[in-house]
Amino acid sequence: MMLTKDVDTTLDAQLIARLGPDLVLVGEAVLPYCRDWHGDVQTGAVAVLRPRDTVEVQACVCTAVALGLAIVPQGGNTGLVLGATPDAPARQVVITLERMTRIRSLDADNFSAVVEAGAVLEVVKDRVAEAGLFFPLSLGAQGSCRIGGNVSTNAGGINVLRYGMTRELVLGLEVVLPDGSLYEGLSTLRKDNRGIDLKQLFIGAEGTLGIITAVSLKLLPAPDQVATALVGLAGLEDVIALYRRARRDCCDLMSAFEFMPPLAIVLAREAMPDLPIPMDATCPAYALIEISGSGLVDVEDLMQRFLEAAFESGLALDGVIAQSTAQARNLWAIREGMNLGQAQRGRHMRTDISVPLSRLADFVAEAEAAVLAEMPGCVCVSYGHVGDGNVHLNVLPDYTLGPDRVDPQILNAKKIVNAVLDRYDGSISAEHGIGRLKKDDFEARLPAVHRGLLTRIRQALDPAASMNPGCQIDLS
Ligand code: FAD
Ligand code: LAC
Ligand code: ZN
Repeated sequence: MMLTKDVDTTLDAQLIARLGPDLVLVGEAVLPYCRDWHGDVQTGAVAVLRPRDTVEVQACVCTAVALGLAIVPQGGNTGLVLGATPDAPARQVVITLERMTRIRSLDADNFSAVVEAGAVLEVVKDRVAEAGLFFPLSLGAQGSCRIGGNVSTNAGGINVLRYGMTRELVLGLEVVLPDGSLYEGLSTLRKDNRGIDLKQLFIGAEGTLGIITAVSLKLLPAPDQVATALVGLAGLEDVIALYRRARRDCCDLMSAFEFMPPLAIVLAREAMPDLPIPMDATCPAYALIEISGSGLVDVEDLMQRFLEAAFESGLALDGVIAQSTAQARNLWAIREGMNLGQAQRGRHMRTDISVPLSRLADFVAEAEAAVLAEMPGCVCVSYGHVGDGNVHLNVLPDYTLGPDRVDPQILNAKKIVNAVLDRYDGSISAEHGIGRLKKDDFEARLPAVHRGLLTRIRQALDPAASMNPGCQIDLS
């Protein structure tokens, strides 16, 4: 998709006059903020507003709304569904939280921290670790994504099976509402049942109800032992069988259980040619498993015994346990590098699907077969978060058919996969959100009552439809 830039220059000038030049980027400087992570879409905006604190966010919101401009909030711009990418360049501004990165407070005794929305996830994790604590949200984009974006997408990632989605890690929020007023809900209480829990409205709202400026986070004790293993198996069914066994044998100590096809290793090598990879891509499926804990538990011994039993039963065909933190990091780099490897191959179809775990293997087999039956030159790459029944079933088009054929193949693949998904009563968005990319597919499956509720909530908070219009649902 390629949208043209068509900017009313008087609006640029008015924004600069009202907010000052330090807060307003215009012209070519807006372009990096108007491109999605994959570079599939490049749009424009009247301006990018860069507030340094909550009061400046309020000023930016009020000024934009007064000028009749709509607002697209942006964190790290790593979202994969075009939620942070403007779609009406002549009528929208981006408000980036990139300058609001402070850790406002860290209360180790309460296992909580208050951080500004623009803080990069990895920086937060590192700062929390320095205090001997742990913030469990972990995803491949953590070096770039920002806490406000994580909350606004209710991000998932690799540790959900143990610690839950972002929603479960949020104790409170501070939010600038579309009328410029401030919702001050930065509580660090763990239990608080005073009426409707308003913060939940903004979690996963993808910037449609306000701009999150700060977040109270739930922290945990840092696990001081981590065991990581990569295991080769005969197929996804066996991966799921191993997962069930791990749930029983490793119980609450299992912190990640991801599955990958052998192509993951190939893609990771393409993205990172120097990455040491301890086994060849010869098994039909791989599981990347992490067990972690503290205190008297010996997680290495647990992993060792768990895998020995898996080999004895014939479930595991190949495997390696990381012998150092560096080796564990390299195993995770395979999982993370496969995203970059796919991006480097070119435009492709990405999904973010969940089905009940009991039906995951059947779903993947059926959906991949349906795609390949119609488009035999495509390559299916299915991987993801087994424990959550969440698969990224991606399709790399047959690039040899030429650039003109890539987008039609992507559209067709999406149609085929979604048709199978509907038969499985699955979700088209397990973790990335709706954004602009999945809006049509979301709306097509939205029951009338559900749609009515969403519309009324948005109209109540944002009657002028200033906040990320065109994201999630159409209000017109
Ligand atoms: P952005 O992309 O900037 O914004 C996302 C949405 O939130 C937009 O709608 C935007 O308008 C809104 N928004 C941003 N900040 C605010 C704010 N302060 N207030 C209100 N609205 C706001 N996601 C997962 O869930 N799990 C994964 O495992 C995962 N892995 C990834 C791996 C890679 C390599 C990449 C590129 C992405 C991955 N993602 C994953 C997707 C992405 O990283 C997450 O959705 C992340 O939470 C987005 O954060 P961000 O700061 O980049 O948000
Ligand atoms: C992942 C992203 C794509 O799990 O959600 O790698
Ligand atoms: Zn994911």
